[in-house]
Amino acid sequence: ENDILKKLPFRGKKFLITAGPTYEAIDPVRFIGNHSSGKMGYAIAETAAQMGAEVVLISGPSVLKIDNDFVKIIRVTSAEEMYNAAHKYFDKSDVAILSAAVADYRPSEVASEKIKKKTDNFTLQLTKTKDILASLGEIKKNQFLVGFALETENEEENAKLKLKKKNLDLIVLNSLRDKGAGFKTDTNKITLIGKDNKTIPFPVKPKKEVAKDILEYIIEQTNA
Ligand code: CTP
Ligand code: CA
Repeated sequence: ENDILKKLPFRGKKFLITAGPTYEAIDPVRFIGNHSSGKMGYAIAETAAQMGAEVVLISGPSVLKIDNDFVKIIRVTSAEEMYNAAHKYFDKSDVAILSAAVADYRPSEVASEKIKKKTDNFTLQLTKTKDILASLGEIKKNQFLVGFALETENEEENAKLKLKKKNLDLIVLNSLRDKGAGFKTDTNKITLIGKDNKTIPFPVKPKKEVAKDILEYIIEQTNA
């Protein structure tokens, strides 16, 4: 069971992993965020390090920590900061796994002072953030690039579209429909879809075990 950890299949390999939510500032005291805990990404980072990898974990706001000398955590807040950090490390990476729940939109303008309540209705204009994963897919050389997909309908079809559109080697489809899957839980239910479009479903498992399933797929595909 633990043999795979002892063999250090990722010795000498550099991993870039994103995790957690991003916070997009509205004014000095408010932001737009989401319920991501970062648990899945942190579990992948720690497990990869236990398998011998040298990991850079770019984390949005999360209370989690990792006590492993082979995981360097870079803490960021916004999607833009995460984008910049990811691009800084992507070149030197062998494997990049983007598990962060990045905000798709940010406030078009950040108010410099706290916004006071005045009118009964208040409209906030939003601007699309840059897609970090897609941008790495565009410049990818030999990196094995992994994305996540959170879908609530036409799950496999949408995940396959994302895999292609973002030039990925693997997409991890996260099902929110199943009990024991999702953001705050310690378990997750995933389906792996590779470049061959083959789908591999897994049962609900602890996130640590899910991390191992994902990493074992990467070992098979990269002959690590
Ligand atoms: N992602 C990213 N940068 C963004 C948005 C998403 O890197 N600005 C990454 C996520 O980390 C994830 C993948 O893209 O690995 C898919 O995220 P998801 O939210 O499922 O898909 P989107 O492409 O954002 O499309 P939509 O939310 O409309 O389904
Ligand atoms: Ca999204």
